[in-house]
Amino acid sequence: MASTTHTDHLTRPEARNFSSTAKVLHWLMAVIILVAWVVGYYSGSMLHYGVSDGETAQKIWAINLHKSIATTTLFLIVGRIIWRAYHRPPEAADTPAIMKTATHIGHSILYALMVAVPLSGWWNSSSGGHDIPVAGLFTIPQLGGKNPELTPYLVTAHWFFAWALLIVVAGHAAFAVKHHLIDKDDTMTSMLPKKH
Ligand code: HEM
Repeated sequence: MASTTHTDHLTRPEARNFSSTAKVLHWLMAVIILVAWVVGYYSGSMLHYGVSDGETAQKIWAINLHKSIATTTLFLIVGRIIWRAYHRPPEAADTPAIMKTATHIGHSILYALMVAVPLSGWWNSSSGGHDIPVAGLFTIPQLGGKNPELTPYLVTAHWFFAWALLIVVAGHAAFAVKHHLIDKDDTMTSMLPKKH
């Protein structure tokens, strides 16, 4: 009937949608974390001290670039946690309670790692007595003071948290795609720019 199409948009439930602030924080942090991860991997695992002067200089340059990019996430995650504390996300798609609990645990682990990765990097770098640049603009104070004996443990902790974050982010993205392609719900699109 022609008249039902006329009123369809009035009765259809509003699609789930995160706020613009939530989307900006989500995608800005996603991009920075991935770029920081790649530069961190390049500086930490692909370049080595003492092979040649050129490689040593390249490693120092890459570590400083890594720190300058990654430290911005320290500010963003604090802002994001405060913002999230005052803004509830839209109601989740209709899924069993057990899945909602699993999602909540997964997201909590993501937040914990988004804190642990930059914090361990900051501490690691401070233990070696190095500068901590932020976006090439200013430096932040060292965390815990110089203590080279701690450095190997902190390098390992930072490596471990960075890999854990990468794996959890990959799982998070895979679940978003599953919601879109298999469950065919609006979980994934709710975090994408809104179509008008
Ligand atoms: C989004 C946040 C961050 C991510 C995803 C990240 C990721 C990584 C990764 C993947 C590595 C390579 C580990 C390896 O293969 O050995 C690394 C190394 C490193 N990161 Fe980060 N990192 C972050 C934040 C930071 C911060 C804030 C600092 C310091 C202020 C920092 C300092 C370092 C240093 C010094 C290394 C080199 C360690 C070495 O010499 O082996 N990172 N990071």
